[in-house]
Amino acid sequence: MERTIDPNAGITIQKLRNEIERHNHSYYVLSAPTISDREFDALLAELQRLESVYPEYTDPYSPTQRVGSDLGGEFSQVEHPYPMLSLSNTYSEGEIREFYSRTERALEGESFEIVAELKYDGVSIALTYENGRFVRAVTRGDGLRGDDVTANVRTIRTIPLRLLGNGYPDNFEIRGEILFPWSEFDRINKEREVQEEPLFANPRNAASGTLKQLNPAVVASRRLDAYFYTILGEKEIGQTHYDNLEAARSWGFKIPNVIRKCRSLQDVFDYIAYWEVRRRELPVATDGIVLKVNALLQQRHLGFTAKSPRWAVAYKFPAEQALTQFHTVTFQVGRTGAITPVANLEPVFLAGTTVKRASLHNADIIHSLDLRFGDYVFVEKGGEIIPKIIGVDTSARSVIPGDKVGFISHCPECNTPLVRPEGESAHYCPNEAGCPPQIKGRIEHFASRKAMDIHIGPETIEALYNARFVHNVADLYDLTVPDLIRLDRFAEKSAYNLLESLHQSKSVPFERFLFALGIRYVGETVAKRLATAFHSIDRLAATSLEELTKTDEIGIRIAQSVHDYFAREDTRRLIERLRTQGLQLSLSEQQRALHTDRLKGCIIVISGTFVRYSRDEYKALIERHGGINSSALSGKTTYLLAGNNMGPAKREKALKLGIPLLSEEDFLKLVNNDTH
Ligand code: IVH
Repeated sequence: MERTIDPNAGITIQKLRNEIERHNHSYYVLSAPTISDREFDALLAELQRLESVYPEYTDPYSPTQRVGSDLGGEFSQVEHPYPMLSLSNTYSEGEIREFYSRTERALEGESFEIVAELKYDGVSIALTYENGRFVRAVTRGDGLRGDDVTANVRTIRTIPLRLLGNGYPDNFEIRGEILFPWSEFDRINKEREVQEEPLFANPRNAASGTLKQLNPAVVASRRLDAYFYTILGEKEIGQTHYDNLEAARSWGFKIPNVIRKCRSLQDVFDYIAYWEVRRRELPVATDGIVLKVNALLQQRHLGFTAKSPRWAVAYKFPAEQALTQFHTVTFQVGRTGAITPVANLEPVFLAGTTVKRASLHNADIIHSLDLRFGDYVFVEKGGEIIPKIIGVDTSARSVIPGDKVGFISHCPECNTPLVRPEGESAHYCPNEAGCPPQIKGRIEHFASRKAMDIHIGPETIEALYNARFVHNVADLYDLTVPDLIRLDRFAEKSAYNLLESLHQSKSVPFERFLFALGIRYVGETVAKRLATAFHSIDRLAATSLEELTKTDEIGIRIAQSVHDYFAREDTRRLIERLRTQGLQLSLSEQQRALHTDRLKGCIIVISGTFVRYSRDEYKALIERHGGINSSALSGKTTYLLAGNNMGPAKREKALKLGIPLLSEEDFLKLVNNDTH
């Protein structure tokens, strides 16, 4: 490319970036646009042009760089420098009074303020900023470690990549909630409806599904938002929580402007009474109110219990209920054959979404509700995805009540008599080999990302099944391009892509293949245990029930299920076909050569940062030597593999529990892996 060298290009680029960032902040965070969209687009286009002419000024923090490349593979796990705790919940005025007087007592009569905030119903996130730049975003995970979702979070326009103003610490963490406004949630669901994709149940699920997307471009196309509510770091900012949030607001973060300082219990109750009603007018979902002691010194004095701070409490809004008419029941059959009764209802608007269906769980629950066709029922949306029916309005029942709702005796899909195993509340269709939703469900599971990662959707599986091309997972590997093209949905290119993806899946390691088989109770972790313990499908299939139960972490229920699975004739036939097709039915030579029993029976927690290998490599080393990597310290932990910068709380806990600490060097000696 020809270019006339402009000696001031660097400065022009920097100025443009600053200007664009200011407009971005006004538009997204303050909701007060300072220029028209057109003018904004023109500025951005000019910056993009200059950056392509002067690539030497490329900067990952430029406003042009929000959408990075595909993440490929999976998210890496990061340890939280401060654990992400939860809040203890209260549900009544009485419980809030208790919190208040507990605080009074603990502060021994000292006066205190409470900051009241809304509790946003999204996905919690921890962002790290270094020298005013956004460097990392980690999900809550198990509270101790979460997924690194930085690439996705940087696409969120309300999150500053570079901070405004000054006075921020060199290094700090800010926590908040990532969520979808109702309007965006509705837009995405409408789009999914058109594309016949499954709908998101609520904005929180949509936000969490979006954050887990491996392609940041998809995330960028959905307009996520973020509200922040806590700052953490070594360096003190202000003396109160309220002042800290004000400071964060001045650095460009979106801090809700509905937070209030309360000086009495009455102030708190007024705040609750107001928002319990007015929250329906907010653009985002909220599920309660959070009360926090304002002074940081007092917060420190009050401290934490094992799970939550003593200086804060959540008040949960009562679950919203609606009354609507119940019409019919549909019995759904899942991948494992479990039958779920689902009520079809007269559509009713409840807590932000239209509810048309509700789970009836199982036969016992239907019986205890004494449900009749045509009844009016109370539906409630709690924390869970599917609303539940909590009762029948018998006063609204007609004089001649409808028929009692019973349970079915035969599978609605294949007409096989259902069974209800001893001690279980669910009914199952036992026709594993011939029941269509079970067959399709197994194939879907086999193809899923964490299993064989074959790029094929449920509609395609359905089409292949209906066309009688695919009846079990081995049939997938016999598909040909001409077969696929005969189906309407395939062009030559997509047919080739599917075959390529099938081909790739043949090198998926043994433990994932084992998980992909969909043996009942064999999830990812159990599959890994079995793979390390038995090395090959043949050894696993030949193992007696007794021996299976002797394996670390494998109880009788899993052992029985694995044993039954391999005893079946159709399993044996399937495995033989998959073997011929070239799938990985055992650990690779390489994996096997590296395996030992040196850490057999050891449960090891990893903490801190390391010099010789990465955390993931240490995790792999533990598993390779027959040990178990666990994330939480407990009485069962054998060792704590301690790196640099380990949190003091963890060290203390290990000391208290008497768990020996291993340094990197100690650990490598233990597994005899201290060469190279
Ligand atoms: S403060 C120690 N403030 O609610 C926890 N949390 O159960 C401090 N949440 O995981 C959290 N709005 O994701 C706090 N204004 C708010 C909040 C809030 C929503 C979420 C957060 C946390 C959960 C607490």
